[in-house]
Amino acid sequence: MNKIIGKPLNRVEGNLKVTGKAEYTADIPRENLTYGAILRSAIAKGQVTTIDTTPALAAPGVVDIITYEQTPDLIKIPFFSQQPDQQPEKHDIIHYDGQPLAIIVAETLEQAEYAATLVNITYEAATPTVTIAQALPEVFEPESIFFGIMPGRITRGDIAAGKAQADILIEQVYTTPTEHHNPLETSATIAFWEGDNLTVYETTQGISGTQKSLAKVLNLPPENIRVISKYLGGGFGCKALLRSHTILAAIASRQVQRPVKVVLTRSQMYTNCGYRSETHQQLTLGATKQGQFTLIKHIGTSLTSMFEEFVEPVGAATTMMYACPNLEVKYRLGRINAGTPTFMRAPGEAPGMFALESAIDELAYALNLDPIEIRLRNHADIDPHTGLPWSSKSLKQCYQKGAEIFGWSKRHPTPRTMRDGNFLIGWGMASATFPTNSMTATVKVELFATGEVSVQTGTQDIGTGTYTVMTQVAAEALGLAYYSQTEENPSSTNVETLHATSLHIPPSLVDKGVRGLGEDITKQPINFRLGDSNLPTAPITGNSITVASVSPAVHQAATAARERLIQMAIADSNSPLYGCKLEDISVESGQIFSKSQPSQRDSYTEILQRHGLESLEVTETTAPNPDSKQYAKHSFGAVFVEVAVDELLGEIKVRRCVGVYSAGRILNIKTAKSQVIGGITWGIGMALMEKTVIDAHTGRIINANLSDYLIPVHADIPNIEVEFIAEHDPHVNTLGTKSLGELPIVGVAGAIANAVYHATGKRIRHLPITPDKLL
Ligand code: MOS
Repeated sequence: MNKIIGKPLNRVEGNLKVTGKAEYTADIPRENLTYGAILRSAIAKGQVTTIDTTPALAAPGVVDIITYEQTPDLIKIPFFSQQPDQQPEKHDIIHYDGQPLAIIVAETLEQAEYAATLVNITYEAATPTVTIAQALPEVFEPESIFFGIMPGRITRGDIAAGKAQADILIEQVYTTPTEHHNPLETSATIAFWEGDNLTVYETTQGISGTQKSLAKVLNLPPENIRVISKYLGGGFGCKALLRSHTILAAIASRQVQRPVKVVLTRSQMYTNCGYRSETHQQLTLGATKQGQFTLIKHIGTSLTSMFEEFVEPVGAATTMMYACPNLEVKYRLGRINAGTPTFMRAPGEAPGMFALESAIDELAYALNLDPIEIRLRNHADIDPHTGLPWSSKSLKQCYQKGAEIFGWSKRHPTPRTMRDGNFLIGWGMASATFPTNSMTATVKVELFATGEVSVQTGTQDIGTGTYTVMTQVAAEALGLAYYSQTEENPSSTNVETLHATSLHIPPSLVDKGVRGLGEDITKQPINFRLGDSNLPTAPITGNSITVASVSPAVHQAATAARERLIQMAIADSNSPLYGCKLEDISVESGQIFSKSQPSQRDSYTEILQRHGLESLEVTETTAPNPDSKQYAKHSFGAVFVEVAVDELLGEIKVRRCVGVYSAGRILNIKTAKSQVIGGITWGIGMALMEKTVIDAHTGRIINANLSDYLIPVHADIPNIEVEFIAEHDPHVNTLGTKSLGELPIVGVAGAIANAVYHATGKRIRHLPITPDKLL
């Protein structure tokens, strides 16, 4: 076994994506379609005094206009529909720039956008609260955060005692700016009604969450709503929850009795889809002369909207990352006139570990200890907060392997001692971590007598490779082939033939019926379907839980289907395997055979056909492993970077990067490495470029576009070397996986800040590290 799982196989949907055949939400054709343009508030605080749609309604092509006035109970400003009571009651009150006020529906997008400019709105504007300084006087300490699942204050031991034991204290403030998700695909919805039934094609990380939230907002039973999301061009948290454009599209479609398409502009992505709040982090680190931590205190201040609470949980990793007996983590929250922030790639860990890993580096220099050595001296052998053993942890091996690949032993410990011409060279490192969680998932496997194999579950592929790894798991369990166009053989073997031979069915039968993806890629023996709320339920693709949640269910359902067929064969007097012992049976290429006499074979299709069955269907549900509560479950990693800093210009280049991870069993080494390269790339952007600039007077985002909001381009990204420590976590699930989605952004900004210090002797505690800060 295990011929397919773990292999660096190409994506099942790769061809469709690179040839433009994959239909993303906004691409889906729909007859009689109309286009919606969302009209947004032009002020950040105040009240709408008049709204006049008359000229706009008369504009060419306009079908209808729905303002907050006409459906005041419906046009909420939805953020979490889990907390509808937190939503504003009055919708003429403006809480943030860009707040949706109306949707204009027209025959074409241009007509809708033009008509939107004709709606006359007058406001009574007030002075908005914009900056953290303005918010500070009314800052508060929330009792719990993340919808009550995390406490607002976490302590252990005795901070005063920890301070008394410390030979050295690092007390610093680190800040990170407001940051925005920038998925390549902007958010989009196509909504249409058939009677009381609503269908939405939706850019979402969670089809069932969207279904439930929409049901609540529209006051419909969830089963009246179908949510479809076949491909996603990135989500990163901004597509995790129901957003206003989806509700507006649904309402508008019901009103005009035609399908309505809404595609957010890039600028609307900045005001209507959440963001990562800026953070102000006060970090105190105490240690003995030997570098043993005696106290960690981490106070994180972040900002939220005027109407909802969202805390950036910067201390989440601080609590569990290092062995330290005395700890306090606390959150403070201020309110500004902005939309509510949301989850963004490693919420908490990404900015929090920048501060913690920077402070540890500062401590290492103060104690003249190697940055790896100080981390090893404080390595948490068990979860220091809960006292639970780790389900698996190979962080020490990550340090060791990373150091080896990077050549860390050649590092001169003194800052400003490594040079290359005009460039000061710096080497820095940091640790990474992210929790491993999982949820219940249900998977249906159908084997058809025609040779079709369908595996279905309502998960999502947000671009990470879910289609691919789940197809691998199913193929492995069912003994079917996985077709991968390889680099050695780019033109492909004849996939029709391959499919047909693997199932022993004529090619004419190959393309029948249940094609979820609809195209070439399903020439895979297995057609893996996801992204439709009509499929069995799987959890949201967020919090890095998809692999750990869905792969065991796929495995269990596929294994159960295989076993059913084997049982049918050995009990069937017409089967060549009649009377064989169960232990003697194995599967390959859609055939089951006797291990002792491999010429005795039967095929899935023949078994079904002989039994007069059109198909065999198995549905299985897996829940998180009950014993997993007895373990602390985290993925870990270590990241090493080399920077070159132009001494005169302050320009910073990341020249090399090595990341080594302890992330459980890896289902596909290629998609996993791609995920890590993406995460590290984002980390480089976070360290050196990203920053949302909000005008302090108007509360408007000034750089709500991809030319002014800087993210890395190819020329900014060095060779990134990625390694995984071999792990098979015995506690998370039957497949041995952990979390990998968000882990690789964590630590990168810290490693870069530490490398910049090593290069220049300047400690930059405020992201992004731009040249002006070094001059
Ligand atoms: Mo995420 S921030 O759970 O997409």
